[in-house]
Amino acid sequence: MSDSGSEKVRWGICATGGIAEKFVEGLRQVPDAEVVAVGSRSQESAETFGDAFGIPHRHATYEALAHDVDVDVVYIASPQNRHHADTLLFLEAGRNVLCEKPFARSQAELQEMVALATNKKLFLMEAIWSRFLPTYVRLRELLHQGAIGEPRMVEADFGFRLPEVDPDHRLFDPDRAGGGLLDLGIYPVQLASMVLGTPNHVGAAGHIGTTGVDEQVAMVLGHDDGALAVLHAAIRTSTSCGARISGTEGHIVIPAFMHVPQALILDNGVGDGERLDLPMDGNGYHYQVQEVHDCLRSGRIQSDILPLDESLAMMGTLDQIRAEIGLVYPGEAGFDTADSASV
Ligand SMILES: NC(=O)c1ccc[n+]([C@@H]2O[C@H](COP(=O)([O-])OP(=O)(O)OC[C@H]3O[C@@H](n4cnc5c(N)ncnc54)[C@H](OP(=O)(O)O)[C@@H]3O)[C@@H](O)[C@H]2O)c1
Repeated sequence: MSDSGSEKVRWGICATGGIAEKFVEGLRQVPDAEVVAVGSRSQESAETFGDAFGIPHRHATYEALAHDVDVDVVYIASPQNRHHADTLLFLEAGRNVLCEKPFARSQAELQEMVALATNKKLFLMEAIWSRFLPTYVRLRELLHQGAIGEPRMVEADFGFRLPEVDPDHRLFDPDRAGGGLLDLGIYPVQLASMVLGTPNHVGAAGHIGTTGVDEQVAMVLGHDDGALAVLHAAIRTSTSCGARISGTEGHIVIPAFMHVPQALILDNGVGDGERLDLPMDGNGYHYQVQEVHDCLRSGRIQSDILPLDESLAMMGTLDQIRAEIGLVYPGEAGFDTADSASV
């Protein structure tokens, strides 16, 4: 890869599950992206994935992928209990990293990841793909222009009903850091963070189900200036998956906030509300890829749109919510509910 943009950015894919497939489909839409390698926990999966997407290097371990010198940047699509260890593995080997959400299980884990990336001067970003969609780009512009005055409240939720409690499903599995909060709740939390910044006060209530993960959680994030976010996440309840940002002079609704938003409704008291259609092309995962390329080509080791300090702060918020609802994962170092208790 060169700074001039004349050469392709060479990607390696870590893990071969559902989201890895969608990501590679999206990545194919970026003309200067090339998938050169895939790493799996088995040669068979690496071969199957490599055949499906025409990827030349197929590695039977994540370690082998880490040491593939033809890879510029690795996309990590393993379950979130592994994000910390896998990110450290790839950074140690000199690879830039785009890691799936949630970035880690706790802020303590993420601090180590960020410290290593900074120390190695390597790129690191959380793959919150929605941040880079046209809807979010326009939303930031509208807020910056003061279209609804001063934002004072964010309401957002992401929830669906998995038909049965299946301990083998990753969302029900505490070993894979399942549950609604980390997996789905990160989306409303990141919207609130983008609009209102880091909260000063965190309150939450949640229901921990029979497998030991949260099946639904409600959060209230408060700010010293009085701004509030009211957010929900659920894996056994079908929620509206909508979002609304209310300000001093109107509000913006994001219809289908979590079913790939492609429009905004701006209501600032003039008329019935204006619908702004903001279609995306492809499956939407390529917008974040373009951001990674832009950063790599300009020598930036983090994104301005999703900076590492913000990811750290969001992880801190999730820690506090976990402390409030008593959600602890097995084998997790560095997370203490007492340390993380609400401020
Ligand atoms: N951005 C999004 O829209 C989005 C959507 C869904 C999920 N995600 C995130 O992406 C990550 C993966 O989700 P997914 O839906 O792709 O999960 P998945 O279908 O279960 O795939 C996860 C993959 O991780 C690897 N893996 C490593 N350790 C594993 C373990 N102990 N058990 C099972 N698999 C293991 C496996 O690949 P190998 O066998 O090849 O090693 C597996 O195929 C999660 O962190 C999730 O939160 C993001």
